Amino acid sequence: MNEKKTMLSGIQPSGELHLGTYLGPLRHWPNMIEEYDCYFFMADLHTITVRQDPAALRRRVLTQVAQYIACGLDPEKCTIFIQSHVPAHAQLGWVLDCYAMFGELSRMTQFKDKASKHKDNINAGLFTYPALMAADILLYQPDLVPVGDDQKQHVEICRDIAERFNGIYGEVFRIPEPYIAKVGARIMSLNDPSSKMSKSSPDGCLFLMEKPEDIMRKFKRAVTDSDTERCVRYAPQEKPGVSNLIQIYAAATGKSYDEIEREFDGQGYGKFKPAVGEAVVETLRPIQAETERLLADKAYLESVYRAGAEKASYTAEKTLRKVYKKLGFVAK
Ligand code: TYM
Repeated sequence: MNEKKTMLSGIQPSGELHLGTYLGPLRHWPNMIEEYDCYFFMADLHTITVRQDPAALRRRVLTQVAQYIACGLDPEKCTIFIQSHVPAHAQLGWVLDCYAMFGELSRMTQFKDKASKHKDNINAGLFTYPALMAADILLYQPDLVPVGDDQKQHVEICRDIAERFNGIYGEVFRIPEPYIAKVGARIMSLNDPSSKMSKSSPDGCLFLMEKPEDIMRKFKRAVTDSDTERCVRYAPQEKPGVSNLIQIYAAATGKSYDEIEREFDGQGYGKFKPAVGEAVVETLRPIQAETERLLADKAYLESVYRAGAEKASYTAEKTLRKVYKKLGFVAK
């Protein structure tokens, strides 16, 4: 029998979903559900490395479940679940803490970044976060992990930890490959194209549920470059602001960079910026409407994440049992 390959990814509900999370990994997920056995989850355990408001976290997790479905993930064809509903994540996370090295964890860019932003709360969870993320992945034995560019380092350390474990105990874990799409892998902030779009800098961030007029305003105000050329040309080093907008327009419309340069040839930025805004408004319109509709049906959302947790637990526990046995833990 020709078994389907497996794919897994997650997003932290530490803020509202934004254009970076959507254009980077999320928009590609629905295209993969026919070909792969897919697991998509809300990484809520990860969010508490930074203090969260409990009511806001609960609301964001539910909104994220609705948004996954609204973005095209059919719960009948893939497994959608909430990380904290599957205890095996925390259980394998602890095991992998013991196979992740202080030195390699210290080199993680995200740890250094967050530690510098939250100096009053550099907790142990923030430091060992990649081991939990490795557990998230390895429990499902996936072939592929689609992420944005900034998570590549975490998928690489996951591979290193898995190889280390396999080196001691035999072939326990499948070694996963990161999948990073070419267009949209790193969407930059709209008001500072030198840093990535992120929920922690809301001014330059475009959230999926923003109103059309706010989207248009943010794009009209988007920082473009101070070069004298003022033409729409993709050149990320020389023209990071315009190149970021071209990337967004390309991801939203499916057009190539060449086509976009030709479309706006000789027109300056005045026409281009609102055109990007409109393309984004049109991309998000059906997602927003469907999210609102689903959020009004809490019973349906609950049925989705409950069924998802059951399916996910079945697979995850199988891997966990195998790991415990290899470690020499006495079976229950
Ligand atoms: P998170 O929640 O920060 O981001 C979710 C996904 O969105 C991508 N992304 C972006 N892509 C392009 N441009 C941007 N500006 C942008 N911002 C975010 C991220 O690369 C990511 O793919 N640790 C993960 C969540 C996680 C996970 C996992 C992912 C936990 N366990 C297991 C995959 C597999 C995170 O914090 O992503």
